[in-house]
Amino acid sequence: ENVLFVASECVPFIKTGGLADVIGSLPQALKQNEQIEPRVILPLYDEIADDWKDKMEYLTSFDVKLGWRIQEVSIYTITHDQIIYYFIANDYYFTRKGIYGYYDDGERFVFFSQAVIDALAYLDFEPDILHAHDWQAGMAVALANILKPIEGMKTVFTIHNIKYQGIMPIDTFANFFNLEREHIGGMEWDGMLNCLKSALFHADKITTVSPTYAEEIKYPYYGEGLEPMLLEREQDLIGILNGIDTREYNPLTDPNLSVNYRSARSKKIENRIVLQEKLGLPIEGNMPLYIIVTRLVEQKGLHLVQTILEEFIQEDVQFILLGTGEPEFEHYFSNLAYRYPDKVAALITFDEGLARQLYASADFFVMPSKFEPCGLAQLIALQYKTVPIVRETGGLKDTVIPYNELTGEGNGFSFANYNAHELLRVLRYSLAIYHYQTEWQQLLRNVNKSQFSWKDSAHEYSNLYEQLVPTPIYR
Ligand code: GLC
Repeated sequence: ENVLFVASECVPFIKTGGLADVIGSLPQALKQNEQIEPRVILPLYDEIADDWKDKMEYLTSFDVKLGWRIQEVSIYTITHDQIIYYFIANDYYFTRKGIYGYYDDGERFVFFSQAVIDALAYLDFEPDILHAHDWQAGMAVALANILKPIEGMKTVFTIHNIKYQGIMPIDTFANFFNLEREHIGGMEWDGMLNCLKSALFHADKITTVSPTYAEEIKYPYYGEGLEPMLLEREQDLIGILNGIDTREYNPLTDPNLSVNYRSARSKKIENRIVLQEKLGLPIEGNMPLYIIVTRLVEQKGLHLVQTILEEFIQEDVQFILLGTGEPEFEHYFSNLAYRYPDKVAALITFDEGLARQLYASADFFVMPSKFEPCGLAQLIALQYKTVPIVRETGGLKDTVIPYNELTGEGNGFSFANYNAHELLRVLRYSLAIYHYQTEWQQLLRNVNKSQFSWKDSAHEYSNLYEQLVPTPIYR
């Protein structure tokens, strides 16, 4: 099958979050299956490095109509790491600084979606399946289903985060689309035009990035108001766990580390000592090190951390935070580091290299998310042989199995309720296990065996495509 991925970000071209990692590695995994030809289409942002732009090849230009607006679009293409990418260039919508955060983001991505549908007439590629990701690409699914630009083309829509939906005043329907009014129903939710809901209504299949999240979003606590829609489409909704690019995240080859390693604790400690020196923390290789690497937003459970961290660091431990985000959290961690310079470091920055050094140095990675569709950080932690401590939600629940002293199973620690004292209890428990040599060694063996490559997930996506568009025998 020919599969066209539609998304707003993709590693290595442009990234703000985990979505970009998925779009940058799932196609490569799918391509291992000879029956599948995956390609990717993205907006051409100014922000994309000139090095990439210089290598792109011009394909064609045409006009796209959005309501009464007419905008010229050009298509560029590049082949990278076996995959063919298409970029939609438009001066008005995509030559701004950054990639999101404009008053007209809704319009920008409705435009992107319309341009993708129109581009199908010009590409040297006829998709059997259009596979769109998150709200920014949601309208492409709706328009594919309504306008049928390619006979028989099916659609898949993947939810990476249901909290962001692309909501606009309903009047914009008439401004944006040259469609009959009967189509407004599929795009409307709660009196507003809603890109994500439009995709849920129109997609042939809906996926999300972990089996647990696929269940959770059918309930109000996680569904962000769309739970009735998901219950209605329950038969077509499945959760497929994200993988991780094991070439990219590999402590044996990662050039950011002071010392590369496969699993040896002694090498982890060498990394830690370099880090402690760099950050001005007391140099104590055997002091248990807890870290958090995250965007500083409520989703990541930072209110729980705020409530109990000061109490926890009264133990013999060190703690390092790396991340930027909401001022409330930035101030909290900076202040804690100021008051406990011998125990805490707060790195209020986003620095991929430093992040890798933290993963390589730490014993424990703390991620008590309020919700987490899949989560990449806990998987990176496991790759770097760092024990994850998580809340049992979404992909965290599906990837971190709590350590069980009786059976010796489990690759981390977890707690169930969104409650700060449950987090404190599990942090203390993790420290107790750390000091029991036999159990700690058993836990580390389990961590070393944890594997989350894309192989199995790519297989599940292939099956899904195959259900929609069976491969004819004569091919
Ligand atoms: C979003 C989710 C995250 C998931 C990522 C990729 O960023 O918040 O949990 O891992 O998408 O699917």
